[in-house]
Amino acid sequence: MSISIFGLGYVGVVTAGCLTHQGFEVVGVDVHPHKVADFNQGKAPILEPEVDQYIQQASAHGRLRATEDAADAIDSTDISIVCVGTPSLSSGDLDLTAVRQVTQAIAEALRSQAKDHVLVYRSTMLPGSTRSLVKELLNDLVEAGRLKVFYYPEFLREGTAVRDFQDPSLMVVGTRNGEPPPSSLVKLFGVEAEVVPWETAEMVKYATNAFHATKITFANEIARLSKRLGVNSRVVMELLCEDTRLNISSCYLRPGNPFGGSCLPKDVRALNQYARKNDVPVPMIEHLLASNQRHLESLVRLIEDTDQEEVVILGLSFKVDTDDLRESAMVEVAQFLLGHGYRLRIYDPQLNLKQLVGTNKKMVENKLPHLASFLYRNLGSAIGQQGAIVAAQRCANLSELNKLVSSRHTIIDVNGWPELEELAGTYHGLGW
Ligand SMILES: NC(=O)c1ccc[n+]([C@@H]2O[C@H](COP(=O)([O-])OP(=O)(O)OC[C@H]3O[C@@H](n4cnc5c(N)ncnc54)[C@H](O)[C@@H]3O)[C@@H](O)[C@H]2O)c1
Repeated sequence: MSISIFGLGYVGVVTAGCLTHQGFEVVGVDVHPHKVADFNQGKAPILEPEVDQYIQQASAHGRLRATEDAADAIDSTDISIVCVGTPSLSSGDLDLTAVRQVTQAIAEALRSQAKDHVLVYRSTMLPGSTRSLVKELLNDLVEAGRLKVFYYPEFLREGTAVRDFQDPSLMVVGTRNGEPPPSSLVKLFGVEAEVVPWETAEMVKYATNAFHATKITFANEIARLSKRLGVNSRVVMELLCEDTRLNISSCYLRPGNPFGGSCLPKDVRALNQYARKNDVPVPMIEHLLASNQRHLESLVRLIEDTDQEEVVILGLSFKVDTDDLRESAMVEVAQFLLGHGYRLRIYDPQLNLKQLVGTNKKMVENKLPHLASFLYRNLGSAIGQQGAIVAAQRCANLSELNKLVSSRHTIIDVNGWPELEELAGTYHGLGW
């Protein structure tokens, strides 16, 4: 199988070198004549460990050449991989000019050559980009079954790019609607690749980069605060990373409820206050509570948008299997709904008002003084005949819900309970 690689930058050159090492024949395409010339002389136009050697070997064995002519590359290959740059415009928007140029050139070449082809985008592009490019520039070829289009994000890191390419940390392939790619492409994508719709694959790339940026920023903010306190931040972060159950794990990385409870809001608040008093700027940590509040507001908007006058909250406490109501997002939601004239019913089997003591009791007295009058012990009475069901916790029996929920209900899944989609009511996920 022979492959065109469009864009001989960091990603393109590593991809070309590694694919030739795996036995593929590669034609590199770039608009820079010196990059093309370097390739044709068996030299890598970028500095990256091991790549030079791969390029040299492939060139010596006749498995690698480069051209400035897209049509020439398409003519002699079955697959095109697009690795051109997608830089920022001065506005911050993504500049897709190079991707569009390459897409257009590939489309024109295919139309004149009347051959089938596979197009794989590896350049980082915002969700929706692949679909727009296909619609605008490739639709006739795709509809005629002559072109298959994939979005296959690249997760390599410069400096260890060859190792990352050969042993990727994640393989995700985007197809139009998440349908599996043909088995002939398994060697290219890897057997373990997760197959998802184009937009999901595009978003995964942005989510991972934003996550990496978040981690670095977080470590640096903790470092600035630690230094001011005379604490060694490297020790702090090493210890934090030692906890692979709660910290370096998928824990707390599931979209759902705004955070709440007796610890997170209080401790974030205290850390911020400390940072402010000591003039240590920590903008990311400073904005955690504001971001959490935005999330809660998006839930409230979702409830309002249902146009239901009755609302049932499933789970009032801040998480399942506790009766702790301190800083629970659902208490805020309940307060808002009561203040705005909604008829509210709450079902939370963990909650026994008589057993509430201390801060919890005080909190109920202050924020929801009439809680007893809208707290239902019976699920059927809580669900009623109609209304928006705000499922904050999995605190109700699914088969019972199945019998009780009707098409007059609207379900808002706050915490990721996919079985709710099967119920009779209209389903909305909070963030999905
Ligand atoms: N660098 C990384 O570590 C990395 C990792 C993962 C993903 N990415 C993404 O991969 C893409 C490429 O990144 P990069 O760092 O290799 O970029 P780069 O700037 O190093 O290389 C881009 C190449 O594309 C070429 N090019 C531009 N227009 C062209 C055209 N019309 N036809 C042919 N070639 C053209 C340029 O001359 C250049 O050689 C970007 O979208 C980037 O966000 C980069």
